[in-house]
Amino acid sequence: MSQTAASYVSKYNIAARIFHWVGAALIVAAVVIINQGEEFISLHKSVGFSFLIWTVLRLINRFVSAAPSPVAMSKLQHGLSVAVHGLLYVAMLAMPLTGLLASMAFGYGVNVFGVLPIAGFATPNDELGSMMMNLHKNLIWPALLALVAAHILAALYHQFVMKDKLLSRML
Ligand code: HEM
Ligand code: HEM
Repeated sequence: MSQTAASYVSKYNIAARIFHWVGAALIVAAVVIINQGEEFISLHKSVGFSFLIWTVLRLINRFVSAAPSPVAMSKLQHGLSVAVHGLLYVAMLAMPLTGLLASMAFGYGVNVFGVLPIAGFATPNDELGSMMMNLHKNLIWPALLALVAAHILAALYHQFVMKDKLLSRML
């Protein structure tokens, strides 16, 4: 792939940029809300479900429109960025999916913002519910946090050490 001056600073398209930052805001909102206590679980589920739909639309946009070619960096760094972005997408899908499946398996379902009811299992399966909730809280969540931390550190490294304007591609 040739690295022209233009592609060096080219941006993600406007849709990708909006998907990125609104997605980040939805994750923060989902977590802030669940930490307010039990009475906010329903709102947590609604925001989390919105994040799932948002992420699916984002992935469709990602597949139908080209991402800008990567900025110049070592093979190792590029490999790491592809791996972390890929794992981020996996965790971004797994997080709401495990929450949704847990709620469904316990028989509760979700009523998204009070307007889109998604039924729970007619015959609850507590074992499946506990398994999904355990993944939601104790595996996917810490993994997502670690990936986001690595992702932000990488962005800071590009900004302040490599000074390669990578951040501006997403702004
Ligand atoms: C962006 C997506 C989501 C994120 C980042 C997220 C994050 C979290 C976190 C960090 C907790 C643990 C709270 C604690 O242990 O104090 C939690 C709990 C929970 N989440 Fe999610 N969640 C998401 C989506 C969903 C969805 C879509 C559902 C269901 C439809 C859901 C249902 C639940 C439930 C039922 C709990 C347990 C609440 C409790 O009784 O303590 N989550 N979530
Ligand atoms: C302060 C917080 C954040 C900053 C500064 C930031 C910055 C960036 C930048 C600069 C890129 C483009 C990388 C490139 O050009 O190769 C990017 C891509 C990406 N970011 Fe973030 N990000 C932040 C938070 C998040 C969060 C919270 C998530 C998800 C939970 C996320 C998920 C992603 C994903 C999946 C990509 C890959 C886009 C693609 O190529 O499809 N980011 N981010």
